[in-house]
Amino acid sequence: MADVLTVDHLQKKFGKFQALKDITFSIHPGEVFGFIGPNGAGKSTTIRTLLGILRPTAGRATIFGQDAWADAVSIHKRIAYVPGDVNLWPNLSGGEVIDFLLRLNGQWHTARTDELIKDFDLDVSKKARTYSKGNRQKVALVAAFSSQADLYIFDEPTSGLDPLMEEVFQREVLALKQTGKSVLLSSHILSEVERMCDRIAIIRQGEIIEVGSLAEMRQLSRSTVHVTTQQPLTGLKALPAVHQFKAKTPTQAVFSVDAEAIGQTITTLSRLGITQLTTTPPTLEDLFLRYYNQEGGKDEQ
Ligand SMILES: Nc1ncnc2c1ncn2[C@@H]1O[C@H](COP(=O)(O)OP(=O)(O)O)[C@@H](O)[C@H]1O
Ligand SMILES: [Mg+2]
Repeated sequence: MADVLTVDHLQKKFGKFQALKDITFSIHPGEVFGFIGPNGAGKSTTIRTLLGILRPTAGRATIFGQDAWADAVSIHKRIAYVPGDVNLWPNLSGGEVIDFLLRLNGQWHTARTDELIKDFDLDVSKKARTYSKGNRQKVALVAAFSSQADLYIFDEPTSGLDPLMEEVFQREVLALKQTGKSVLLSSHILSEVERMCDRIAIIRQGEIIEVGSLAEMRQLSRSTVHVTTQQPLTGLKALPAVHQFKAKTPTQAVFSVDAEAIGQTITTLSRLGITQLTTTPPTLEDLFLRYYNQEGGKDEQ
């Protein structure tokens, strides 16, 4: 099946400032795709360009095979979007805003909408002007999750939500996935992305620096090894695949090892008589920090 969304060497300048330098990725049907990077990296700018709110300076994006800029109107009928900064109409109640957002997208208030209002614990009788950031996000989330769409785009949707509500959000995203919908989720909460996303793009200063599944990214990275042996761990530090070697005692150490050399390293260790061994694959946070730390030059040994 064709990709739901493709972004091809997208660039965006604001005056002289190049907010997007080179953004390329695609989303497969039925996939939850994570878009991660710190504040200012270009996540929202990418999403606004995808939605046809901003016109790209160079490059191209397509959604459902149509051009994101030229065909925005027809694309939007099949998209549900929750912006990072949810602005509501201050004098409408939360419930009125939800119904209004739904109608703007050609949708209706259904039993599902009521269910979502309950699950997100939202008081819809209050005026939108009295809402906190989290409540404004809930309004947009309720409208999005009760919409029938093929692609759901969430721009840092949980930044104002408490952990309980974040769980509701995650449950709803997984429910969408189960019905074959595609999701683009921008986030800087790595645990959220780690738990939910099939594939991930990491963005740094307007450039995609890595795209793939967490497993693929792990294959490019290093695991942490804690080991205790009977004989001294001499010579280990000198192995090319071993990094950040720290000996606690002559027979006890912690170090990181390149993913492709784990087997070989364990063979070496077993000759020294292993009494204890744990290997921990990198978390998304480890990977993320590693990519970000590479900026100034070679990474540490
Ligand atoms: N309308 C705009 N005019 C000028 N600069 C902008 C505009 N929108 C975003 N930027 C700049 O582009 C960069 C990327 O911003 P943004 O896409 O909002 O990042 P993120 O969503 O990853 O936090 C930032 O440096 C931001 O200040
Ligand atoms: Mg943003």
